Amino acid sequence: MNLILLGPPGAGKGTQAQMLMEHYRIPQISTGDILRSAVKQGTPLGKQAKAFMDKGELVPDEVVIGIIDQRLREADCKNGFILDGFPRTTPQAEALETILAKIEKPLDHVVNIEVDSEELVRRLTGRRTCKNCGAMFHVAFHPPVKEDICDRCGGPLYQREDDREETIRTRLKEYEKQTAPLIRYYQDKKLLRSIQGIGGQNQIFEQIIRVFNAKSV
Ligand code: AP5
Ligand code: MG
Repeated sequence: MNLILLGPPGAGKGTQAQMLMEHYRIPQISTGDILRSAVKQGTPLGKQAKAFMDKGELVPDEVVIGIIDQRLREADCKNGFILDGFPRTTPQAEALETILAKIEKPLDHVVNIEVDSEELVRRLTGRRTCKNCGAMFHVAFHPPVKEDICDRCGGPLYQREDDREETIRTRLKEYEKQTAPLIRYYQDKKLLRSIQGIGGQNQIFEQIIRVFNAKSV
């Protein structure tokens, strides 16, 4: 199964990608996670990306396209992949099409998770992520059993640099301007499956599985 998860910041792409990864045993490919790890390690890629990410702006297309081109050729993508946070612009979507044609892995579905912007701000300001294993929590909606400690691995939880309200507003504007046009792009290709991202995480997961099994779009 070759999938894209589309949706604004905080829609639950990462949360659902992790659940789909366990269910289908295919890797989650998050450009945000790859870039954050490069920033943490201080690599040339990380140094280039940091200024954009801190401001809540998108990293240049050629940088992320290069990352995806390499990553999709790795052996673990043999049986499928879940793209989380890529593509985010029309040039990225076009480049992805070329890459997938070359490696003969056509897309099966593009899942668009819809959530209103006030809910997105609430989710992002309360998000906490595990430093060790990347598991995601929310201080109110999905709190860890022990404050600031990961339920899964016992690692420390942290708040993402770009989860400050002002940066969140910039990320939402970038989404509207650059990423939202991809909804139409994939609708035209008859690949888009839109779902309401409000409700419990398991409920949303079940909705996604249901749309995969539905015959028509
Ligand atoms: P990225 O890391 O991709 O961030 P994003 O798209 O802004 O999305 P988020 O990760 O913030 O949200 P999410 O949808 O994954 O939600 P989550 O599951 O965490 O990108 C970061 C930056 O990297 C970009 O700004 C850009 O600079 C750069 N970048 C990355 N990719 C790029 C690209 N392709 N091109 C250019 N630049 C790129 O959930 C959020 C919170 O809500 C969590 O606390 C979670 O527990 C909670 N939650 C989840 N589901 C529910 C639910 N159903 N109910 C209540 N709470 C919920
Ligand atoms: Mg994410």
